[in-house]
Parts: sequence; C-alpha cells; structure tokens
Amino acid sequence: MRIFSGIQPTGAKHLGNYAGGFRQYAATQEQGEAFFCIVDLHSVSVPYDPADLRERTLDLFALLVATGLDPDRSTVFAQSHVSAHAEASWLLSSVTSFGELRRMTQFKEKSESQEFVSAGLFTYPVLQAGDILLYQTDIVPVGIDQRQHLELTRDVAERFNSRYGETFRLPSGVYPEIGAKIMDLQEPEKKMSTTGGTEQGTVYLLDSPDVVRRKFKVAVTDSGREIRHAEDKPGISNLIEIMTVSTGDSIDGVQSRYDGQGYGAFKSETAESVIALLEPIQARFREIRDDPGELRRLLALGAEKAAEVSRPTLESMYERMGFVRLG
Ligand code: TYM
Repeated sequence: MRIFSGIQPTGAKHLGNYAGGFRQYAATQEQGEAFFCIVDLHSVSVPYDPADLRERTLDLFALLVATGLDPDRSTVFAQSHVSAHAEASWLLSSVTSFGELRRMTQFKEKSESQEFVSAGLFTYPVLQAGDILLYQTDIVPVGIDQRQHLELTRDVAERFNSRYGETFRLPSGVYPEIGAKIMDLQEPEKKMSTTGGTEQGTVYLLDSPDVVRRKFKVAVTDSGREIRHAEDKPGISNLIEIMTVSTGDSIDGVQSRYDGQGYGAFKSETAESVIALLEPIQARFREIRDDPGELRRLLALGAEKAAEVSRPTLESMYERMGFVRLG
C-alpha cells in the first residue's frame, strides 16, 4: 500500500498538526510504502520570508523524525527537490475547472485575510492533487480540514483517467477518529491554526512547559460543570480530545476519570499530559536539528527516492496528453 501526506514548512507546528498530521504519519508508515513531503512550494502561496522558509524546512524535517518518522523506512523529502510536482501541477491544471477551485473553502477563508491574493493561493489544490497522484497513492493521512482538497484530487484524477486513459489510482483520505480537528483554546469554534487562530489559543509543539501550562490555564471552557464530550460544550470537548490524543486514552476513559471533578483540575492535568507528550519530542528535535549536514544528506536521499518513484507517472501523463517525448 502507498501512503502519501504533505505538510507546510512555514508557520510554527501546533497540536492540531500533531493530531491530524505527525501522529498519523508515524502510525501509517507501518502499513506500507510511505512518502512524506515537506511542501515548500505550497508555502510561497502566501506572504513569507525566504530566510525563514530555509530554516523552517530543516526544522520540519527534524520534527518529522522527532515525532516518529524513520527516514530509513519512509521517504521524507522536500517538494521543491522533485521537479515532477511543479510539472504535474501544470498538467493537471488543464483538467481542473475554475469553478471547482473557486469553491474551495480554504481559498475563500485565506483570501479574505490577505491583501495580496496570489494566483498560487487559488491553484494550490492542483499542486496538492499532483503531489498525491504522482505516487499512485492509496491513502492520505490528514486532518479533516483537508477533506475538500482530497475530494478535488479524486475528481481531477477521475477526469484525467476518463479523458486520457487510466493513469492514476484514486486515493482515499484517512482522518483520525479523535482529534481530526483540534480547536483553538481561546475560540473553540475555530480550528487551531497559525493563520486563523489566536496566539494564546494555539499550543505549539516547541512551546516550553510553562507556556503550555499558561495556555491551558486560560483556555475557554463552557457553562456548566460537567466534563463531558458534547456538541454544546465545544471548549471542554476540545480539551477532552486533546487529552485523548496526548495520553492514548479513550473519550469515555477521560470522562469517567474526571467524573465529578472541576474544570480547573481537568485543565491543568490536560496541560501536564501535553507536556509529557511534547518533552521527549522536543529533546529529539533539538538533537536532530543540531546536525544540519545530516539533515541535508537525508533530504537528498529522500529526494532521490521520490524522484525515482514519481517519474513513471509523470512520464505517462506527458505521453497520454500528447507531448512529444525525446527519451
Ligand atoms: P498543513 O501544513 O496546513 O497541515 C498539516 C497537517 O495538519 C493537519 N491539521 C490539523 N489537524 C487537526 N486539527 C487541526 N487544527 C489541524 N490543523 C492542521 C492538516 O489536516 C494536515 O494533515 N494542503 C496541506 C499540505 C499538503 C498536503 C499535500 C497534504 C500539500 N500537499 C498532499 C496531504 C497530501 C496543508 O496545508 O497542510
């Protein structure tokens, strides 16, 4: 089975990324041949700082390994190192409609908050479709916010297959049962995010224990006193999910453990469970990040493998679309 997922290097990584992304990457790599892509080309679709992009790309590689990816087992690479991604994006843009892209909620949300809306922000889902389709992917582990992009990827693949002949496998998104959408601690009706969330409500994977404690201490809760996962309790439900993600316990397990207890103790114990999760990750991160030479060597190995695996699919795309090939 082929597994593929991508994550942007810019923006500090947070608990939402851990729940929907990192945690699932480490688990799914056990299930088959896995590819994890640092999507640096996606990162330039919104304003960014070039020096920051360079550093964050290495940070993200280190964080992927620190959260459990084994670069000997999985292919971990940067998107810009494999030119097939940019090429596939252009080719697929001919089978993606303007109307489909205009309906993407992530585009609508992100473009509202930008003064300069780049064309790249609009065509971003086409690049993502290419990422996935180039590897004949079966499953894509992601958070729920990527569902619409996954559906578009399948539509684009089907259209290409029916127009030019069977070329792509149709991928399925894999969403975690719990923690597929971690919410902002201050505004639990919004997802935790570096772009759309609040600073106090976003718990970063590299936050120090004190910062984590403070953020949970001031987390918004709901009226009532019960620690119960329910639609009318978005704040508490989110904290229960976070505790479930960080301890591996079930929702029922957490609810019965805190039955009859107050919000204060629950919030502080949730913070401690997150600290216990993050401390070893942070220690491994520092160790790996400390050796940029080794990181570059691993990136080069990943790029080589990814280029080799994606090449035949890109070649079929060109051929079926009628381009003269020289090789
Ligand atoms: P990105 O970089 O925004 O997020 C990386 C992963 O984290 C998940 N995630 C969340 N999960 C739960 N709760 C949250 N609050 C939360 N916030 C983020 C995301 O769902 C994602 O799995 N477009 C993608 C990157 C991408 C990609 C791909 C993904 C590019 N090409 C191909 C899969 C396959 C993105 O911007 O993810």
